[in-house]
Order: sequence, then C-alpha cells, then structure tokens
Amino acid sequence: MVGALWIASVCGKERQRERQRFDKALTLRNMSIWVELLRSSIGKKYIMAITGFLLFIFVIGHLLGNLQVFLGPEAINGYAEKLRSMPLLLWGARIGLLVVAALHIWMAASLTIENRRARPEPYQLKTPIQATYSARTIRISGVIILAFVIYHLLHFTFLVIEPDYATWTDSAGRPHVYKMMVAGFSNVWISGFYLLAMLLLCLHLSHGLMSMFQSVGLRNPVWARFLEQLARTIAALIFLGYASIPVAVLSNLIE
Ligand code: HEM
Repeated sequence: MVGALWIASVCGKERQRERQRFDKALTLRNMSIWVELLRSSIGKKYIMAITGFLLFIFVIGHLLGNLQVFLGPEAINGYAEKLRSMPLLLWGARIGLLVVAALHIWMAASLTIENRRARPEPYQLKTPIQATYSARTIRISGVIILAFVIYHLLHFTFLVIEPDYATWTDSAGRPHVYKMMVAGFSNVWISGFYLLAMLLLCLHLSHGLMSMFQSVGLRNPVWARFLEQLARTIAALIFLGYASIPVAVLSNLIE
C-alpha cells in the first residue's frame, strides 16, 4: 500500500516536471516567434504599418483638438484643461505615443540599414523610374518631421522656447493655449517652419499610408488606384487642416 502511494507520488511529480518543461518550451517558442518576427523584414514592415497607423490616428485626433482654436479661446483652453484633468489617461497616452514613435523610428532605421547592406553599390542611374516623389523622400521627410516634433514639444508642451507662455492664463485660470498659438504663429518664421513641416508630413503620410495598405495585403491591382487616391486625399486634408491655423493667425482671422 505504502509502495503504491510512493509510486503514485513519484509519477505525479514526474508529470508535474514534464508539464513545467513543456510550458517552458512553449514560452521559449512563443518568444522566439516574436524575436524572429522582429528580425525578419516582413515583421519589421508589419510593425511599421501598425505603429504608423497609430501615429496617423494621433495626427487626426490632434488636428481635431487643435481646430477648436477656430471656436475661440473658451473652446481650446477648455479642451486643453480637460485633457490635463485626466492625468492618468494623458500620461498613459503620452507614454504609449512615445513607445509607438520609438518603434516606428527603430524599424525604419533597421530596414534602411538592411536595404543598404543588401545593395552596397549605389545605383548607376540615380533617377528612379516609377517611385513617386513622396516615396523617394520618405526617409528625409521622416527625419525632418522628427526634428519638427522635438521643436514643437519644446515650443508648446515644455515651453522652453517661450518660457513666458507658462505664466499666461485666461480669466478662468486655465493655461491660455489660444493666446500661445496666436503669439507663436504671429512670427512669420515660426509659421513658415510649421507650414514646411506640415507639407512634409503630408508627403510622408501619402506614401506611408500606401505602404501600410501594401503591408497588410490590401494593395492589389483592383484597389491600387483607388487606395492611392484615398491616401493622397487624406494627406492633403490633413495638410489643409493643420496649415489653416498658422495661415489664419498670419491673416488676422484669429487674433
Ligand atoms: C498647426 C499645427 C499644430 C498646432 C497648432 C499644434 C498645437 C499643439 C499644442 C498647443 C500642444 C500642447 C498641448 C498641451 O500641452 O496642452 C501640442 C502638443 C503636441 N503636438 Fe502639436 N500642434 C500642431 C501640429 C502637430 C503635428 C503635425 C504633430 C505631429 C506630427 C504634433 C505633435 C504633437 C505632440 C506629440 C504633442 C505633445 C502631446 C502631449 O503633450 O500630450 N503637433 N501641439
């Protein structure tokens, strides 16, 4: 009887160990799938498409928020205050955005290095046959957009460029985002830089959206033309939306 119990307990322990080994092997296999995905070109392209899409959603949301400047100080200052009154959500979104942007840049850099390694000799003929202007400028537009975002954060979020903005509050004691925007864009050089950055963002988005459609297998011969037009139209609308703010300030429509 004791012998039988002892055998059962040994078998139970052995089964438990077997199960643990199996679970460990499964975890390692799942991890290696992710590592392989991160290493493969196709995986990197997928990550670029997903992170690019999330950044695109941010760009649309940010535009809709900013366009409230046309409704007056009450609307835009109230909107900014509302965002700040939800610190958990705001910081969650900020951290998420940072991670997504970092992944997007990392994958872009990694794919660029991979392409250069695969073709160390530069092309004899520099003029690309079919690539559009937005496709040829995707990397440089990305780098300039990154420089713009850093400047933009120092300008409007961290208030390093204009520390006086930190003391500007409206009659309700809220940060005066409206006054900040009017003051910032009254400077023709700042407005010019923003307009240039928005133009590059529009170029970047029009090619980025096309690449995203391709990565997820939507860009087939039947859809190609339609998707190309759709990507261009969305990018142009985003440009017009953002550009309308500095243009409205410079033409005294908003003051
Ligand atoms: C005319 C164009 C734009 C205007 C007027 C504008 C305005 C603003 C303002 C006022 C803030 C500070 C919000 C606050 O701290 O309450 C802000 C933050 C920010 N903007 Fe823009 N923006 C513009 C274009 C863009 C573009 C094109 C991008 C991205 C490509 C961008 C990315 C950001 C980011 C990442 C933040 C930080 C968000 C945060 O602190 O939570 N902005 N913007």
